[in-house]
Amino acid sequence: MISEKMAKAINEQINKEIYSAYLYVGMAAYAGGLGLGGIANWFQLQAKEELGHAQKFMHYLSEQGSDLVLKAIAAPDQKFTSVAATFDKTLEHEKEVTASIRDLVTLAKKETDYATEIFLQWFVTEQIEEEVSVSDIIQKLAIGGKMGNSLLMLDKTLGLRK
Ligand code: FEO
Repeated sequence: MISEKMAKAINEQINKEIYSAYLYVGMAAYAGGLGLGGIANWFQLQAKEELGHAQKFMHYLSEQGSDLVLKAIAAPDQKFTSVAATFDKTLEHEKEVTASIRDLVTLAKKETDYATEIFLQWFVTEQIEEEVSVSDIIQKLAIGGKMGNSLLMLDKTLGLRK
């Protein structure tokens, strides 16, 4: 059994993961509206991954005999100025999620809650991957931007994500 404080923090993280999915669905719609189906595909899969993260946390709460407490999901900002801006926002958001996971690990350590600490290791590794993949896209857009046609090439590449 985990502490009430830890269960509350995990419930808050579940809200953040579902918000992340919401944010990326909005970005997928924006890219889709521009006719960039590949980029829309990438964001849709990103959203799906976020729901998967939320489910992992929900499953863990259940395993620990703690209650799932669902709160309202905030509406994300859907006004984007460019595709590059959506990826910049994505990286900024993922850095916030990384910090949030770090806070959970810190709490688990403070409470000598080894089970939760071990459970969180998967998310620590996942956040490294999340930040790297988005940084890579931002870098490609910046390089491609100097050569022209970068958005269409990126759209083709991101359309391959499964
Ligand atoms: Fe669930 Fe993108 O972090």
